[in-house]
Amino acid sequence: MPRSTLDFATLDRRAAYRLLTSVIAPRPVAWVSTLSADGRANLAPFSFFQMIAPHPPTVMICPQHNADGSLKDTARNIRDTGEFVVNLVSFAQVEQMNASSWAFGPEESEFELVGIAATASTRVAPPSVTDSPASLECTLASFTLYPDQQPTCAIVLGTVVAAHVDTDRVSLDGPVDPNALDLVSRMGADWYGRTRTAGNFSLPRPQRWVR
Ligand SMILES: Cc1cc2nc3c(=O)[nH]c(=O)nc-3n(C[C@H](O)[C@H](O)[C@H](O)COP(=O)(O)O)c2cc1C
Repeated sequence: MPRSTLDFATLDRRAAYRLLTSVIAPRPVAWVSTLSADGRANLAPFSFFQMIAPHPPTVMICPQHNADGSLKDTARNIRDTGEFVVNLVSFAQVEQMNASSWAFGPEESEFELVGIAATASTRVAPPSVTDSPASLECTLASFTLYPDQQPTCAIVLGTVVAAHVDTDRVSLDGPVDPNALDLVSRMGADWYGRTRTAGNFSLPRPQRWVR
């Protein structure tokens, strides 16, 4: 197998981004709804997104700064209000999700401009995306600019305080079928994946060690 070694001390930023986002894949997509301090709804996708703990139930998103070094609307809104909703994205919603990534101004709402239906949340003020198969209402647990010197992004941890799920696709008392869920994920460049795919397989954890 031919292997090349890349030294990140000399790799330029674009090449580093291209490589890491291509090999750290697929990444789930958090479609994050927030409210500005003056109550305007905002919605944008983030694939630097993970669950980091079930107890307390904690998720992480990492909005990178804008090119001018300012916070993206999502990061600023979460810092200012302490609340957000992570909406998971089904394949049927992929075009709307992509459209909502356009750099709209802070005074514009992606819900209105893209025509995305919103539903009031129960425990937080930002609305959820009505047709999302699963929406996670979150309160801010930690907001850190990273790195300390010349930060380039925010590391946002949220505690999940409520979830709303489509019970046609998310069983509450048994395993959830990823094919029924049909979520989209982000890979390198403009590639996306789907959890509905012929390549899915089930692999139970080992019950004992066999040499
Ligand atoms: C699928 C997808 C994933 C994205 N993931 C991220 C991400 O993890 N971090 C980020 O800073 N921007 C990401 N973006 C770009 C943001 O969505 C985009 O900058 C958006 O305009 C931010 O909106 P806001 O200023 O309203 O927060 C992603 C875009 C797409 C389409």
